[in-house]
Amino acid sequence: MKTPVLQKVYDPNRLRQQGHELIDLMADHLRATLSGSAEKVIHYQKPEDERDFWMEFFKDQSRSDFFPQVLKRTTHVHHPRYIGHQVCAPAPQAALCGLVSSLLNNGMAVYEMGMAPSAMERIITDLLAEKIGFDDKARGLLTSGGTLANLTALLSARKAKLEEDVWLNGHGNRLAVMVSEEAHYCIDRAARIMGLGSEGIIKVPVRPDFSMDTSVLNAYYEDARKKGLQVFALVGSAPSTATGVYDDLHTLADFCSEKGMWFHVDAAHGGAAVFSRKYKETVRGIHRADSVVIDGHKMMLMSTITTALLFREGHHSHTTFSQEAEYLLQHSEEEDWFNLAKRTFECTKTMMSLQWFLLWKTYGEELFDENVTALYDLGRVLAGMIEADPALELAVRPHSNIVCFRYTQQGLNAAELDEINRGIRKELLEEGEFYIVQTRIKKVQYLRCTIMNPFTTTSDLEALLALVKEKGRRITA
Ligand SMILES: Cc1ncc(COP(=O)(O)O)c(C=O)c1O
Repeated sequence: MKTPVLQKVYDPNRLRQQGHELIDLMADHLRATLSGSAEKVIHYQKPEDERDFWMEFFKDQSRSDFFPQVLKRTTHVHHPRYIGHQVCAPAPQAALCGLVSSLLNNGMAVYEMGMAPSAMERIITDLLAEKIGFDDKARGLLTSGGTLANLTALLSARKAKLEEDVWLNGHGNRLAVMVSEEAHYCIDRAARIMGLGSEGIIKVPVRPDFSMDTSVLNAYYEDARKKGLQVFALVGSAPSTATGVYDDLHTLADFCSEKGMWFHVDAAHGGAAVFSRKYKETVRGIHRADSVVIDGHKMMLMSTITTALLFREGHHSHTTFSQEAEYLLQHSEEEDWFNLAKRTFECTKTMMSLQWFLLWKTYGEELFDENVTALYDLGRVLAGMIEADPALELAVRPHSNIVCFRYTQQGLNAAELDEINRGIRKELLEEGEFYIVQTRIKKVQYLRCTIMNPFTTTSDLEALLALVKEKGRRITA
């Protein structure tokens, strides 16, 4: 029985009216933020104050400005002075795909629950595999985030490389994976979820340039073997998160083939460099990986979450989760590419392929080339300005659009400099004119910029550095 409330909830005219209003609001938001005329990137509120605001809002029957308040009270990634975390300023078309996916709500687990997006998922993962340099044996899938994709890849690696059937019998051997000490924390988390424990995550140290030190790989590997561990996979970062530095993928691939290990490349952030004519050298060797993760929502102008996981030998993607679930996954052993839940961790997922398909079809590869190239170029510009300024210190010359630096001044000790840089970042956050983040690298406090917005200009970067120095001087005085 359709109650008045349900009638109201599903009224198409309400969707039409509210949808038009919302799109107008979002277009105005986009114009104001992209042009920088919205003066703040973030109107920072303390968590308790924010919760109080929304509690009042919830109780107040007269308030109807839900969407304007959400826009105001969130971080504006389209603002050129958003230079913070690694999420992109999504293309508006990508956001429209999200809206369609939310309304249609096709769960994607089986082909009938998402025919068009399942077909698109096959097409774009094939194209992406080709772009990486894989041949036609490759297969891919889309999944909910780089974190989950890395876990899925390591599960596939374990399945492929172990003689024992862990899926059926659990672990017999003590297992391990090798990864740079600078890799994203989700690799560590994945290994722990897989029951490998602390001893099963072998953190390889980095060189002074923050890439994995390949000269010590063998020593770490042999040491693990002597301890009785079976090392079944090595993870390369392309690039690592804190410093944005790419590992030497060719050398890692050589090592893996010599030892018979699975080679996984976490290219969640920088895999999109395969599209950049100028920067594709950063990912040289990526085609030799057994599996590769690339996030669409980082460097490819898509909204969260749109992660691709590609396998060089596609059959691995079908065996990772070989499980019977008769009501959903019939004939589980079959390689029917169109029943996606057989190969993904999720049962239900969003129709994320719409975003990949539409952006790629509408603008071609050039869009991704231009975006990556512009952002990596800006990374170099920012690093150059920092290097030229005695009041600033660059952590490492960037390979990408991730740039870490700090304010410095003679006569101050390490603890004082850490404190000052923490203070600078705190003030920046509270004032909201810029949004940057912070990180600790080798126990030193740095300010961390990831230039995600191609509308960021050199003068935005100059203004940021001027503000950092002004704050640094004032805090020190
Ligand atoms: C290298 C790398 N891998 C994995 C992740 C996690 O990806 P997601 O946030 O999509 O789960 C990140 C996120 O910053 C990353 O930088």
